[in-house]
Amino acid sequence: MSMTSHWSRSREVTVNESGPVVELRPVERDDLAFMKALSNDPHVRERVVGWDWPLTMAGQEAWFTTSLQNPTTRRLIVQTAEGQPIGLTGLWDVDWRNRTALTGLKLGGTADVRNRGYGTSAIRALMDFAFLDVGLNRLYSTIFADNGASHAAYVRKSGWTEEGRLREHVWRGGRYVDLIQIGILRSDYDAIPWDDHGDTR
Ligand SMILES: CC(C)(COP(=O)(O)OP(=O)(O)OC[C@H]1O[C@@H](n2cnc3c(N)ncnc32)[C@H](O)[C@@H]1OP(=O)(O)O)[C@@H](O)C(=O)NCCC(=O)NCCS
Repeated sequence: MSMTSHWSRSREVTVNESGPVVELRPVERDDLAFMKALSNDPHVRERVVGWDWPLTMAGQEAWFTTSLQNPTTRRLIVQTAEGQPIGLTGLWDVDWRNRTALTGLKLGGTADVRNRGYGTSAIRALMDFAFLDVGLNRLYSTIFADNGASHAAYVRKSGWTEEGRLREHVWRGGRYVDLIQIGILRSDYDAIPWDDHGDTR
């Protein structure tokens, strides 16, 4: 499985036509060192909603074997067109009856890849996969209220909607922070006027 996504022009969401192409693919055993670096990246740890102890390679190996047996979770490596892993996204808690899934995204770990458009490209690629290939009807996620880059990449640049605010929901960095609930429906996705080149459809 390999999916690509290009930026596109839209009247409803602001996108950058010159943004980068990314590919999404399943996690392989060779990715575990990258995933450990990504999860332990301080910038990422401060901003992702779930918290865990710093990871070890032994823990990663044990986790990888059991993760393959989970039918409702599919993690995907985000890589550049040249094949360099730069992040992780995927579908969690896939609900086949209601056709919903939780998603998330983190970029970093080994290289300076944030704020260059890769995140928006990865969100677009994940939406293509979830709505067109898997056949889901709704994706949802949560972001810290002060995560400007994440809010921009999902809401301003990719057509997601703010659906609610959970006040002081997470303890992080010595204080409680608000969590913004965001989501996108298949019908929202279909209403986004993709670019004239047909790159994303
Ligand atoms: C959040 C994340 C996935 C976004 O990916 P990215 O590649 O950095 O995002 P993009 O470059 O596609 O878009 C970011 C946009 O936010 C803007 N931005 C950056 N910091 C910002 C801030 N503090 N406030 C408002 N906007 C901000 C950028 O200028 C850019 O907009 P532009 O292209 O119009 O200039 C990535 O930064 C990341 O992995 N961060 C660490 C982990 C994380 O926060 N994950 C999300 C948890 S919900």
